[in-house]
Amino acid sequence: MGSNDDRVMQLRVVPAASTDEGCRGCSRRAVLHGLALTAASALFGCPSGDGSMTGTGPDGGDGGSGSIASACGANLCLDLNDPKNAVLTQVDGALVVAAPRDSILLVRSSTSAVLAVSDICTHAGCGVRYDRVNKIFSCPCHGSQYTLTGMVLRGPAFKPLAKYQTQLDVSTNQLTILL
Ligand code: FES
Repeated sequence: MGSNDDRVMQLRVVPAASTDEGCRGCSRRAVLHGLALTAASALFGCPSGDGSMTGTGPDGGDGGSGSIASACGANLCLDLNDPKNAVLTQVDGALVVAAPRDSILLVRSSTSAVLAVSDICTHAGCGVRYDRVNKIFSCPCHGSQYTLTGMVLRGPAFKPLAKYQTQLDVSTNQLTILL
């Protein structure tokens, strides 16, 4: 009888441990996030000796490859004159850059603005993509969808994507992501 009680206790414990609140504390997400940042660091060598960080553009197929961002104070800066960041000079252009604690998806939403959200899905940590046809972010893993401000449109995710403020100087083509 005692062993049955132990089994019941174990069965109760397992679901409780795997219950997630938008995968906050979800070990899979934590692992994926860790892997993503590790991969970003390994692939992009961030930051390099000159303080620059590079990223990539898996934004649904046509993002820039090897974007370059530099630490500028506590923030991240991109020179859109750099050919590796040039996709963001076009409205609807999208790019992912590696930040110290996140992977940030950038979308040129208008001639004067760039949106920035974490590209790590709040459900289980997959990289979200920009759907330029529907003007949303979508996750290829389980179908979550988000508005361009990061709010959840469709689950299973229910927590919004982290959002970042940006400053775009259109006269000099300099973008700052406020971290
Ligand atoms: Fe499951 Fe994004 S990881 S919907």
